[in-house]
Amino acid sequence: MFSKETYQNRREQLKKHVKDGIILLLGNVDVPMNYRSNTYKFRQDSTFLYFFGIDHQGMAGVMDLDSGKDILFGNDVTLEDIIWMGPQPLVSEKAERIGVQDSAPFSKLAGVLSDAMKAGRTIHFLPPYRAENKILLEELLGIKPGEQAGRASVELIKGVVALRSVKEDQEIIEIEKAAETAWLMHTTAMKMARPGIWEYEISGKMEGIAAAGGGMHSFPIILSIRGETLHNHYHGNQLKKGDLLLVDAGAENAMHYATDHTRTSPVGGSFSPRQKDIYQIVLDANVKAIEAIKPGVPFRDIHFLSANIIGNGLKELGLMKGDIAAAVELGAHALFMPHGLGHMMGMDVHDMEDLGENYVGYDEEFKRSDIFGTAFLRLGRRLQKGFVLTVEPGIYFIPALIEKWEAEGKFTEFINYGKAKEYIGFGGVRLEDDILVTDNGYRNLGKPIPKTIEEVERMQE
Ligand code: GLY
Ligand code: MN
Repeated sequence: MFSKETYQNRREQLKKHVKDGIILLLGNVDVPMNYRSNTYKFRQDSTFLYFFGIDHQGMAGVMDLDSGKDILFGNDVTLEDIIWMGPQPLVSEKAERIGVQDSAPFSKLAGVLSDAMKAGRTIHFLPPYRAENKILLEELLGIKPGEQAGRASVELIKGVVALRSVKEDQEIIEIEKAAETAWLMHTTAMKMARPGIWEYEISGKMEGIAAAGGGMHSFPIILSIRGETLHNHYHGNQLKKGDLLLVDAGAENAMHYATDHTRTSPVGGSFSPRQKDIYQIVLDANVKAIEAIKPGVPFRDIHFLSANIIGNGLKELGLMKGDIAAAVELGAHALFMPHGLGHMMGMDVHDMEDLGENYVGYDEEFKRSDIFGTAFLRLGRRLQKGFVLTVEPGIYFIPALIEKWEAEGKFTEFINYGKAKEYIGFGGVRLEDDILVTDNGYRNLGKPIPKTIEEVERMQE
């Protein structure tokens, strides 16, 4: 964990964003997989980790904005717990490590909150995303699960987003540690992309590398020769020469900082001319978008920059036609790239998505579009120094989408459907990197993973 001062300072900063009342931050609990004591791997809540640092289940933190006092709630382990699961520091010792003076058994939390509610004080809480915490919040605050997201504190959400969006130098170091593991995951997958191998053999190897890096994968691995399915978690295909293998995966390090990279490899080591054409357009969109990153630039503009590169490239291949700038504005390119250019990344791979995408990626100046494709852009607002975000353009040939748009006669002035149908079965290409916004520009985080056509082909020599 970071120093005691880190957590003290973060809590002090948060208090400046919320006027009065009580901030309640719930940690996560162990969740059963198939019976009570057989649990999923524990993952602490990221916001709790950010302000209270304790990577242990069954904890909650309270910050009293009127008295200025913080309290850590949790239960000391029993002798039986120690026998089965080993010793643990006392909750008071955990509190001491993060600079919190007061600690109490978890059962005392309800009383503290009900006294505050009786006194008419506001309890600020975040939108819960796990069933266990929804039930707990109902018990603590009397708010039904279905109403909790709507009654979460906007003041608190905005304060958390303001702080967590701008990464500290020590957080960048942690992301780069995760990136070392991610480099090995991706280069291993690229070398393994040979005819005859099964997708699960590669994804399994990658999960093992993530675990051997001291953490885990930052999200379920997306790995498929059917890369046109954007989040394809099915790993049951056998690779054959001529396929494209799309691998979108990341590592999460021991401190729970994530990475998120995508690479697309030709099975058997060489791209066909048609694959090269599409790959090069995506590569250009990736590189040019990264080069445009600097403080003050709206990420929405960089999204449109990459969409225009994709549109113009597809026009050269005869897949699109007409005025590409107009096509992109109206959303016609979304037939081929129906997602946004990227998202914030930190302790969560889609950082703070649990708090609400629009609070993280948009603001008073930039509102989310409702046009198909552009609406999936998770980050639109102006970039600031210290933001970490992904840049992940792609081109996909999704049969159901091509058929539907053609049947509807959609954007016939911009799309050559006859040509698009020739690409059915092609799959998809996506290229993704993790970028830090610096004083005057950007830094591509982690050791570069092979990306040019020559570099990628060389991986299977
Ligand atoms: N890497 C998966 C995603 O960004 O949605
Ligand atoms: Mn991503």
